[in-house]
Amino acid sequence: MLASKRILLIIGGGIAAYKTLDLIRRLRERGAAVTPVLTGAAEEFVTPLSVSALAGEKVYRALFDLTDEAEMGHIQLSRSADLVVVAPATADLMGKMAAGLANDLASTLLMATDTPVLIAPAMNVRMWQHPATRRNHAQLAADGIRFIGPNEGDMACGEYGPGRMSEPLEIVAAIEAALGDGPLKGKRVLVTSGPTHEPIDPVRYIANRSSGAQGTAVARALAALGAEVVFVTGPADVPPPDGVEVVRVQSAREMDAAVDAALPVDAGVFAAAVADWRVASASDRKLKKSRDGLPVLEFAENPDILKRVSRMEAGRPPLVVGFAAETNDVIENATAKRLRKGCDWIVANDVSPATGIMGGSENAVILITGEGAEEWPRMSKEAVADRLARRIAETLVG
Ligand code: CTP
Repeated sequence: MLASKRILLIIGGGIAAYKTLDLIRRLRERGAAVTPVLTGAAEEFVTPLSVSALAGEKVYRALFDLTDEAEMGHIQLSRSADLVVVAPATADLMGKMAAGLANDLASTLLMATDTPVLIAPAMNVRMWQHPATRRNHAQLAADGIRFIGPNEGDMACGEYGPGRMSEPLEIVAAIEAALGDGPLKGKRVLVTSGPTHEPIDPVRYIANRSSGAQGTAVARALAALGAEVVFVTGPADVPPPDGVEVVRVQSAREMDAAVDAALPVDAGVFAAAVADWRVASASDRKLKKSRDGLPVLEFAENPDILKRVSRMEAGRPPLVVGFAAETNDVIENATAKRLRKGCDWIVANDVSPATGIMGGSENAVILITGEGAEEWPRMSKEAVADRLARRIAETLVG
């Protein structure tokens, strides 16, 4: 799929650099040529010899290496590829890129290139969350730099959180998408995600514990396969992925309207935890305890978005995927839910507290299709998303 594509791979100095050895193999398996560039710090983590052996090409290291300049100047090197990939993109490299510094080969190539750039950040969670990195991230995104990851999980430094470099196969998928070569190229996919907030009055609302992590991961994975993704999200804990069209909503009715506006699509993935009920007549002024006494809230049923879209007579997406959060009899309940809603697949999971799935980083799902139930092993929410996205691609594209 990447045949005849050339990737200029800039390897930054972080512990995740070891994963780039596997990344090089995966890229070459797919027919890509890889020109590796090592920063000085990267050489502390991987050796030039192993990198060049796997790439089957010379490794570029120093800016003022005259032999390299005689063979291929840094300007030419920066433009010789179809895509520049930085993995791992350290806080330092991101800072240099955002500030426009060019004091070594890697940063000079990044300044000189006129080729699209994809970066896979990797750093300690505090560094990722530091205001300086937040600023650099926003600046780089505004400059048109594409991002893959970082993922959330255990880190080499012993901490936990976002900052882990994406896995090689996730980076490969992002490279395919960046090169417009993903299997979902030309397909438009809708993803709903997050909780909804149902107002009681202007300051109070009814919500649920959905973090939006699984829906966000699904949207990211679909985009990485080249899909044009419309991401309709309630107020989630996690930020939306890069490279998708984000539509922010609060309530179920707003989500319903946003879904309608996003149609037609080739597939709809309904991962949102939509509130089934809303307060029938939300007050437009704040309820006062002194004046109003104990409020009595009456509920009205919200639109069932998944059911409505699944049962559309005209313009139904060719593939409609729902989610089911169950606490018992998962397969039976989810199989019945699939029929009740009229969707094609249900991604079911057991959210009973003992599983730690709700709000956690892992998921164990059962995919219910017309053919029956398929149990997937417990894996990260990103891996579930990747597998689901690939399954969607196989179904839509064959
Ligand atoms: N969903 C939706 N609109 C709603 C409610 C749910 O689109 N108003 C979608 C969710 O995004 C998810 C699936 O329906 O894909 C989950 O269904 P759920 O609400 O859990 O099922 P119910 O039919 O309400 O069944 P139960 O309450 O028995 O779990």
